[in-house]
Formats: sequence, structure tokens, C-alpha cells
Amino acid sequence: MQFFIDTANLDQIREAHALGVLDGVTTNPSLMAKEGISGEQNILNHYKAICDIVDDNVSAEVISTDYEGMIREGEKLAAIDDKIVVKVPMIKDGIKAIRYFTDKGIRTNCTLIFSAGQAIIAAKAGATFISPFIGRLDDISFDGIELIQQIVDIYDIQGFETQVLAASVRNSLHIVKCAEAGAHVVTCPLSAITGLLNHPLTDKGLAQFLADHAKANG
Ligand code: G3P
Repeated sequence: MQFFIDTANLDQIREAHALGVLDGVTTNPSLMAKEGISGEQNILNHYKAICDIVDDNVSAEVISTDYEGMIREGEKLAAIDDKIVVKVPMIKDGIKAIRYFTDKGIRTNCTLIFSAGQAIIAAKAGATFISPFIGRLDDISFDGIELIQQIVDIYDIQGFETQVLAASVRNSLHIVKCAEAGAHVVTCPLSAITGLLNHPLTDKGLAQFLADHAKANG
């Protein structure tokens, strides 16, 4: 399972990269706004800065919701760097745009996936990744992990090559459950990634080892 970080914050991206477990980055317009990035050139520059940190897989989302606009924007984003994956919303024109980008060899991430049906049509259009939002489903009392499992099973049965990128991951348990369900990728906040490191018995055990060593060695 690949690990992407879900942020546009350069320090957090650098920190996750330094950990040696990072395979990519996902952003969205809300995450870019949170970092105070606005204006077309600043946005393009920021994506380039992210690409310069990581090895591959930087999802950059289009703002347009019409086919021509998405193509125009997506081509501009893809021209920034070969690491760019054009993120496109799950709407009718988005599916048409994904087919266009796929035929041109431009990788895509179909975002805002909340059902297996949406996952099927995005795969048919040739999406490289689809992003089901598990946390937002949990928020409305639907089982996000169950959806990941269902899509993974369908893709497996049908032989779709599209990768299931579990998004809206809120905590470390989500990551474990996504791994169990066979998600190909998880994108998560840094806190969920570093949260995987923690267990109170590890801390207690290490403190004991160090105390015993200190006692024996004066
Ligand atoms: O990148 C999209 C997704 O991960 C958003 O997560 O926490 O805003 O639902 P969240």
C-alpha cells in the first residue's frame, strides 16, 4: 500500500518525506486555500515546490467544472512536472475529461467518490486513481471502509487497473483498516501517519530497557 500525504503544507510534506515512507501528495482547493496560496501563478509555483520535494504522484486539482475548462487547466497543471496527477471531480464533464487525459497519457485522480457506481464509471474512463472519501462517509453514518472493500473487490473481479486511493482518512485506525481492505493507496494527514508509530507498551518497554542498561552500566 502506498502512502500519500494529504496537505499542501511544504514543511509537513518535507517531514513525511524525511521519514522515508512517502509515495506522493494529494491536495485540493481547500488545502491550498488553507496555506494561503492564491492566484494562478502562485498556485502553479506551489505545485512545482511540492514536486521538488517528493519523488512522484502530486495530485493537483482543477477548479473548472466544464469539459473545456478542465482540459485547459489540466494540461497546464500536467506541464508543471511529470510528477503531476490531474485531479478531476466526479461529474459528467469530469469523466469526459478523464477519458481525454487518459488517451493523452496524462495521469488522473477522480475525486469526490462516494459510491461503487462512481468508482466503476471512473475506472471505465481510465482514471489512474479514484479517491473515495471515507471520513466524510463516516461523518454521515455510512461505513467508509466498507465502500473501500467493495470497490477493491469490484476492481479485482473486473480486472480494472485503476488504483483505489482512500481519501478523507482521519486517523491511524483508518490506515490499518484500508490496508486490511486492500486499498492501493491511502492519503492522510501527517498526524495519522506518525500515529502509526505509537503504542504505550513500546514507550514503557523502551524506558525499562534504558533503565536496566543504566543500572547495569552505572
Ligand atoms: O483530499 C480530499 C480529502 O482527503 C479530504 O479530507 O478530511 O476534508 O474530509 P477531509
